[in-house]
Amino acid sequence: MAIIFNEENRHFYLEGKDISYIFRINRIGFAEHLYFGRRIGRENMEYMQSIGSGSAYVQMPGERNQSYSYYNPELCFYGTGDYREPTFMVKNPLGDRLCRLHYTGHEILSEKPKIKGMPSLSGGETLVLHLEDELTHFAADLYYTVYDEYPVIARRTVFKNNSDSELVLDRAYSFNLSLSHSNYKILSLQGSWGYERQMQYTDMHRGVVSVDSKRCTSSAILSPFMALLSPDADEDRGIAIGVNLVYSSSFVLKVEGTSEGKGNICGGINDFDFEWHLAPGEELETPEAVIVYSDEGLGKMSRAYHDVYREKLINPRFVKKQRPIVINNWEGTYFNFNTEKLIEMAKAVKGLGIDTFVLDDGWFGHRDDDSTSLGDWFVYEEKLPGGLKPVIDAVHENGMKFGLWFEPEMISEDSELFKKHPDYAIGVPGRDRCKSRRQFMLDLTRADVRDYIVNTVNKIISENEIDYVKWDYNRNVTDNYSLGIPRDRQKEFAHRYALGLYDICERIVNQNPHIIFEGCAGGGARFDPAMLYYFPQIWTSDNTDAEERTKIQYGTSICYPVSAMSCHVSAVPNHQTRRSCEMRTRADIAHLGPTGYELDPTLFTDEDKELVKTQINAYKEDAELVLCGDLYRVENPFEGNYFGFMQVSKDKSRAKLTCYRRMNTKDEIKFVYPKGLDPDKRYYIPEREQTLMGSTIMYAGLQPEFAPRDFVTKVFHFIENLEQEIK
Ligand code: GLA
Repeated sequence: MAIIFNEENRHFYLEGKDISYIFRINRIGFAEHLYFGRRIGRENMEYMQSIGSGSAYVQMPGERNQSYSYYNPELCFYGTGDYREPTFMVKNPLGDRLCRLHYTGHEILSEKPKIKGMPSLSGGETLVLHLEDELTHFAADLYYTVYDEYPVIARRTVFKNNSDSELVLDRAYSFNLSLSHSNYKILSLQGSWGYERQMQYTDMHRGVVSVDSKRCTSSAILSPFMALLSPDADEDRGIAIGVNLVYSSSFVLKVEGTSEGKGNICGGINDFDFEWHLAPGEELETPEAVIVYSDEGLGKMSRAYHDVYREKLINPRFVKKQRPIVINNWEGTYFNFNTEKLIEMAKAVKGLGIDTFVLDDGWFGHRDDDSTSLGDWFVYEEKLPGGLKPVIDAVHENGMKFGLWFEPEMISEDSELFKKHPDYAIGVPGRDRCKSRRQFMLDLTRADVRDYIVNTVNKIISENEIDYVKWDYNRNVTDNYSLGIPRDRQKEFAHRYALGLYDICERIVNQNPHIIFEGCAGGGARFDPAMLYYFPQIWTSDNTDAEERTKIQYGTSICYPVSAMSCHVSAVPNHQTRRSCEMRTRADIAHLGPTGYELDPTLFTDEDKELVKTQINAYKEDAELVLCGDLYRVENPFEGNYFGFMQVSKDKSRAKLTCYRRMNTKDEIKFVYPKGLDPDKRYYIPEREQTLMGSTIMYAGLQPEFAPRDFVTKVFHFIENLEQEIK
């Protein structure tokens, strides 16, 4: 049993793989945090309250015992002398913002209930803790889910109005988690277009460190992720506590060093420009926070995220299914294509092992550049006479499936749709809207706009043989205002945008179950767990340069599995960086995730074709490792001249090490130390025609012997050798 309530001391023991989470209901009826960390016994943990938050919790009326002057609540509330960041702020009918949430009961469920209208992890034994304010009847249900298989606790809160009057929430975070000390470094993932999820460290200190987005999207600037690392933590050692929000709109995560060296983490929907009205009987569901505890560094933390997302979040229809190897025309043609060109491209890759041809932007309305036609999801007949059919037929004839690009959330000023429905675009009547990438955004908070999107996109899909869709999203919200939301509720806009997005995803993605949807957002600007629920893979970055990709893919792997990272081989000089890496390097780095080619294949020489064919064959042999393997990061490109990913099958019978060296150096004989093998197994290494023990490979290391050039890779395979005796 993973969740136990001890009636005597009113302790809750929540146990996941390797972890314990313990809190109690204290004498004055508050839920008081006692412990989160490595698995411990089911002791009386009362003594932990004395090393609580250091927050000056004043004596409650009627409570004489001073020992309650410090405690760590499971939800921080305002107005009681707890001066930490409150987990929520509620305005009561009298105008006060006070609240005291007392325990009123709990339920232990064998299976986690789904969140209404938002993605979340599935399964897992779940505790629902009921808290309520005696005076106002504002209430909160705290959800805690644990799994036997993962060192993970999923947290969220449902805020409820059990009173007879309207209440207004100014803040409604998903969780808070008390920390018994603040001696941590903070890791977050920051970036920009073409430079997503770069690792950024700062020290935890007295005061608040926050990462957030105010863009109505999870964004490339900061991911909805944060990790706390003990001072000694590295890839394999030390404590790493990760928090990742299953959410795609404006979010915040805060970590606070409080008095006496204690700490607190909290977060969820960003309370910037936020307010939520709760009529009597109404409730607000908050997004789930996935919290991982690792006592074996960042590596174990990442593998826990990878496992739980693959098993409990990402669409089970596709998560372990062989992904299409695509040829995408975007960097090969941009907007400049016609039926003949596309057919030539399809012919050029015949027999190379590529299985899906993806037609990117520019096939609809009258779109020849990025200034027109978004929202007009009908075929550009002048460019593609006879519609998509001739192209799709040619693609099928050449042995491939067909994929198509959409940007469903957008509208161009120069479009039929805007002429008919200018009000569909987000903005304030009478005020010029801000354009970004020469486009506006559709108001997904409105049901009629959502219906339009769903109907037009589903129409194209139903009229054509489409097996793959790339769902793009190329700008962030400005002019935050909806004609569909009452005046006094406009601050609900950002969260309602997320709910609208999930609604159209449900109706497009889940109503077309045979299609694999790839997410995209001007590259990897909306790479978050909620999007992964719909899109088993997401375009990791518009930057396809192998050198820069080593960092982007390394940073992305901190919480997302490689099976979710779409990576393409593109032409050189690279269109984003003008760097030229050799074909082998480009492929070795792009083949670390679901892969494809994004270039003009009609320019392939016979030699290129042979190489691509060989690369794809090799990729297919290792596809299991990409989809289901454990990732061990071996060399960190943020810290040195090298990058290294080791992908190991769950049964440790097969592994692949991809090493990369940035600059050629004369004076270093490089060793790499593979990880994750079974020390007692013997592995055949085809690249060296040699069999060695796992322990020898990992502890004595291997020399990659890189070619004497810049930007080169070396790949090793390790195949369990059951026959050959070691001499
Ligand atoms: C974005 C995507 C690209 C491509 C273009 C098309 O930038 O990230 O892959 O689809 O849009 O306009």
